[in-house]
Amino acid sequence: MPAKPSNIQTKRTSFSEPIRENLPQRDPVVCRETGKDGNHDMSQRKETPDTHSTDPRRKTRKKQSYYDDIKEKFAGERDLRLDYRPEGREQYTSEFEGDLEKYAIDPNAQESTPRPSFNDTVEVLFIGGGFSALLTSARLRQAGVESIRIVERGADVGGTWYWNRYPGVACDVVAYDYLPLLDEMGYVPTRHYAKGDEIYAHCQAIARKYDLYQLGVFQTTVTSTVWDEDEEMWHLRTDRGDHMKARFVICANGTLSKPKLSKISGMTSFAGHSFHTSRWDYTYTGADLSKLSDKVVGIIGTGASAVQAIPRLGAAAKELYVFQRTPSSVDIKKDWPTNPDWAGSLEPGWQAKRRERALRATEFTPEQLAQRAPISREEKIRRQENANIDAMMRIHAKIDEIVKHPKTADSLKPWYMLMCKRPCFDNDYLPAFNQPNVHLIDTHGKGITEITRDGPVFEDQTYPVDTLIYATGFEVQKTGIYNQIRGEGGIDLNAKFEHGVRTMLGIHSHGYPNFFVMGGYQASFRFNLTDVLQIQGDHIAACIDYARKNDHHTMNVTPEAEEWWVQEVIANRGKTTRSEDCTPGYYNHEGEGQRRQDGNYNGSYPAYIAHTKDVLEKIEENFSFSPSHD
Ligand SMILES: Cc1cc2nc3c(=O)[nH]c(=O)nc-3n(C[C@H](O)[C@H](O)[C@H](O)COP(=O)(O)OP(=O)(O)OC[C@H]3O[C@@H](n4cnc5c(N)ncnc54)[C@H](O)[C@@H]3O)c2cc1C
Ligand SMILES: NC(=O)c1ccc[n+]([C@@H]2O[C@H](COP(=O)([O-])OP(=O)(O)OC[C@H]3O[C@@H](n4cnc5c(N)ncnc54)[C@H](OP(=O)(O)O)[C@@H]3O)[C@@H](O)[C@H]2O)c1
Repeated sequence: MPAKPSNIQTKRTSFSEPIRENLPQRDPVVCRETGKDGNHDMSQRKETPDTHSTDPRRKTRKKQSYYDDIKEKFAGERDLRLDYRPEGREQYTSEFEGDLEKYAIDPNAQESTPRPSFNDTVEVLFIGGGFSALLTSARLRQAGVESIRIVERGADVGGTWYWNRYPGVACDVVAYDYLPLLDEMGYVPTRHYAKGDEIYAHCQAIARKYDLYQLGVFQTTVTSTVWDEDEEMWHLRTDRGDHMKARFVICANGTLSKPKLSKISGMTSFAGHSFHTSRWDYTYTGADLSKLSDKVVGIIGTGASAVQAIPRLGAAAKELYVFQRTPSSVDIKKDWPTNPDWAGSLEPGWQAKRRERALRATEFTPEQLAQRAPISREEKIRRQENANIDAMMRIHAKIDEIVKHPKTADSLKPWYMLMCKRPCFDNDYLPAFNQPNVHLIDTHGKGITEITRDGPVFEDQTYPVDTLIYATGFEVQKTGIYNQIRGEGGIDLNAKFEHGVRTMLGIHSHGYPNFFVMGGYQASFRFNLTDVLQIQGDHIAACIDYARKNDHHTMNVTPEAEEWWVQEVIANRGKTTRSEDCTPGYYNHEGEGQRRQDGNYNGSYPAYIAHTKDVLEKIEENFSFSPSHD
């Protein structure tokens, strides 16, 4: 029997489908975390994008025609981009073979040396060693699970924070919320927005505390994960010749961990040095980028990675050419060192309480509900859209204020609704374009389509560069990267999903017993991803604990429970065309039409949490079990 749907009413963000719940939360606490300049009332401070400005109760004084004209401009800019690349996601490749192989090489580690292969059995095996694996392992350890193995392609734990070391890398969610297990680790981040190296060090500290290095296997990629129905065990094979067995497997391969490249004609003929942002070559650039002082550098892409790297590159390179296809929305980053007095005053359990407060802040008060009640659905949508446009025009005004050259300022203005793309925050990004050595090459939505041995070409002009950096992003939310997953009847998970993603809670899929997915589709999506990962990790650890304590060797979600969730996802996809109205990007599958079940669960984050609780409470109804082998 499926779990009962919850009846929780939660705040919706303005530009909702398919990313309804992923606005950053306003910091819900009044606290003194802010540094030397005194106490800041954080509840008065606005995290951007501005959730207030997208509140449908808010009326505007501008004429509707003002907003309609802007929406028309948005539509034109979107259509321009869709016309340039009708191939959708096919415009990219993440299969780095042949001449592209070099873009996958890990610059952070020595080439792996031969080692004896592993032919052993563990109780729980994680594919991937990022936050998902770490926070779930911590919960499993608390439940008394000893045999835990992390198998990771990189040379250490950390995932995103192991791979992405480009200059300027930092979290864009307040670190006190983003970094998991702060209570357990007794740690307070040193900045409001922690830098990448601090986050990576936190990952390592978690692995040490929970004794995860002992069984860990690094520089190893799981290539196949196959269920043996007679043995009722998973068999995993790797690129290092290992053949491991595991009773429980957690696919924690990350939502953004396989780099992708735009397929650009002639790119392999480029004679200079090139790399992807997630494989930053510090041997070439120098740790402080000083080796770029005599280099002309080009960077392709202006997403969140580029926005953080560009100011640092601009300061270091002789010349920097930024090849832009679509500008990001770049807002102010309110960053500061943590006030030691505030950090010292925190009581044990402060992060959990903070999360609870944040969650409560996403629910409507009875007064808010009463205020909203008389507003028609159409009117709510109209007001939300208008408020969203206001927020975007505020970003435009900021660009005009900061960027001196009017043509460059115009080029940097994003013409789409806020949240069509991940909003970015960096205080040095816009000023970088005032430097004489930083050149914005605005390709007006077309992008770079040709690269010669000298450099990128746009409108018949070649831009010769010594160094070319690809800031072209990652394959998104794919379960089973580098890996083939085969469950009961030998059915490939991707083949099953070809007819539409089918899971319960985005975690369990029928026919894949004792197999759990983290960060995949059909789960809730939050601007702070660790919110969701935490819920999933707690849920998975509770499932495993339940199976162990109740002498169940396996648990397999029932087809009925899976069908219930698929229908929940479909029912909560939203009824507007907002996703299609967006400029193409990975949030809307590059503008490709998609089945309604092939995305995140948009029925609100509190509802997702309530569902995971319901599923656990009715665990015997939602799963079939097989008896213990002992
Ligand atoms: C540059 C960058 C910055 C980000 N900043 C934020 C932020 O500020 N806030 C936020 O909420 N989110 C952010 N994210 C999203 C971020 O990915 C998540 O917050 C989180 O770190 C994901 O953790 P994870 O463990 O699920 O996946 P990951 O950290 O991606 O780890 C997955 C790991 O699995 C490994 N792996 C994959 N397949 C295999 C295989 N077959 N065999 C062995 N190993 C495998 C990969 O090598 C990788 O190390 C950011 C993402 C990027 C790329
Ligand atoms: N904590 C943080 O602040 C942070 C930092 C980095 C990454 N992240 C996370 O990781 C995600 C990925 O970020 P990302 O910046 O690595 O990738 P991304 O957001 O996918 O950006 C890729 C960029 O490459 C551009 N592009 C692709 N092909 C091109 C071509 N042929 N010519 C010119 N430009 C081209 C894209 O343009 P179009 O927009 O036109 O497609 C886009 O600007 C983010 O959305 C975020 O979730 C977070």
